[in-house]
Amino acid sequence: MQRVMDCIQIETGMPLEIPILIRGAANAMDALFSTFLLSTSSTGLLSGKNRTLIYPMKPFAPAPAAPVILNVETREKQEHEASISKSTYSLPGAIHSSCLVHCPGRTHQQFIDPPHLRSSVDPRHVLSDNWAPVNELPPTTCPVIRGAIPACLRGGAYIRNGPNPQYLPRGPHHLFDGDGMLNALLLPRNGDGTAPATLCSRYVRTYKYLLERDAGGPVLPNVFSGFHGVAGIARGAVVAARILTGQMNPTAGVGLANTSLAFFGKLSMGMTAHPKKDPVTRELFAFRYGPVPPFLTYFRFDAAGKYKTGEDVPIFSLAQPSMVHDFAITERFAIFPDIQIVMKPMDMVAPGRGSPVGSDRGKVPRLGILPKYARSDAEMRWFEVPGFNLMHALNAWEEGEDTIVLVAPNVLSIEHALERMDLVHSSVEMVRIELRSGAVSRTPLSAENLDFGVIHPGYVGRKNRFAYLGVGDPMPKISGVRKLDFSLCGRGDCVVAARDFGPGCFGGEPFFVPAGPNRGEEDDGYVMLYVHNEDNRESKFIIMDARSPQLDLVEEVILPSRVPYGFHGLFLTQDEIKAQRPH
Ligand SMILES: [Fe+2]
Repeated sequence: MQRVMDCIQIETGMPLEIPILIRGAANAMDALFSTFLLSTSSTGLLSGKNRTLIYPMKPFAPAPAAPVILNVETREKQEHEASISKSTYSLPGAIHSSCLVHCPGRTHQQFIDPPHLRSSVDPRHVLSDNWAPVNELPPTTCPVIRGAIPACLRGGAYIRNGPNPQYLPRGPHHLFDGDGMLNALLLPRNGDGTAPATLCSRYVRTYKYLLERDAGGPVLPNVFSGFHGVAGIARGAVVAARILTGQMNPTAGVGLANTSLAFFGKLSMGMTAHPKKDPVTRELFAFRYGPVPPFLTYFRFDAAGKYKTGEDVPIFSLAQPSMVHDFAITERFAIFPDIQIVMKPMDMVAPGRGSPVGSDRGKVPRLGILPKYARSDAEMRWFEVPGFNLMHALNAWEEGEDTIVLVAPNVLSIEHALERMDLVHSSVEMVRIELRSGAVSRTPLSAENLDFGVIHPGYVGRKNRFAYLGVGDPMPKISGVRKLDFSLCGRGDCVVAARDFGPGCFGGEPFFVPAGPNRGEEDDGYVMLYVHNEDNRESKFIIMDARSPQLDLVEEVILPSRVPYGFHGLFLTQDEIKAQRPH
């Protein structure tokens, strides 16, 4: 197998290891496969594989003379030319790949797949506007056009993950099916606005990405859309044949790595996109889930990033395979959701379905509370919370000995979560669970459609006051940012600061960076994200003052290339980058 780059370099001589933790909604089936494979093999699935080289070039490539806009048409043309070139000059490879890769796939799309696709899997709809994929971008300078860079951010990098299919789909394609691409912006060390920032976009070098790159076309079926009807069965049969003939090694992982990323030690298994780092103990808590028992497994890493071998806690009390995208921790507990999004493997081959994940409105959602250092599932307590479907958690903490408080967006229209995301409304709620009595109460914090939220990382698992969330308009497009004040719970709408991006402008999940390394005022810091203008196709990066009522802009960077919408991201400080060394 081709060697995989195992580090990220922000600058040459400044290597940065970014273990990419990868799971999530976009990877529900990814986790599904990973967990399944782990149960049949002790081989690490993702160790050293889901990593990518962000800034490999020295010196930095010069900025293009004009903004480079790569769109669907450009990609189609490039791929068409590439396919002609490959078939002309690489006959042995072409035979190998065309027999088992290209012919079946094209046949499916041209002769078997139905001509009309649901909008959720119609690439003409799913990959429109700024969801259209872009090519990789070498390090490219871009001017800072507004303000000075805050001292805490200088020399740091904002990196955001998102789905960006390597090959344009010729058939059904769900938004969650694209290969992971990291769009990273390195901020200058000079904060006076005279030095440029540097943008770089790279695919995560997953096994799937490398396999398909070398094959010159799609190999693995799309997880959320690739199992439609007869064509889906045919695709599955082709994959099975490739495994049996040794052309594919599924134990290397088949994930997309398109959801999120995290910053800590090596990863050697499937894992949630939303691990939780305890700010006091520095331990990392996480889980994986899948379609075969145990449907959920909880595990952790020590402060040095070392996996606590032998301390996995299989959660057999989760009786049905369900989507567990996120969870929360407190000082003493881990809190898991059991929601109405479930796995239905048989739906992969059912007429008109084609996805192994769907909603079950007859199921009563639950929250499970497990001691953080539990040795077994016997210590888990489940609490029914009818109508509460948690996809993302903001935070949780304890009040006294017996009360757990959880704050999270509740997806009110869960049946639309996969098929009509534009109809989803997420209401942020504070949930109180009384451990002794079992009583559960819920209080909405805002009437707005809010999700993709973050808090100050120093308050994870501890009582906190503020969160920053994206405004769905409609989901998953984000038209603004709202700051919530949890202390106002029960006294009306808790939004205390707001910024809208303007007509035709949409962003993604905001990320909060504290102004200083010590835990001072909770909202003393900055909120950042990419914003795209769909009218002029310009992308920019903005930084906002988290304490100002209008979330005032303190910096804007015009990007030299379009950055597609995506999911989750993070910011690494200059010191964090410096501290990294490649293996
Ligand atoms: Fe997520």
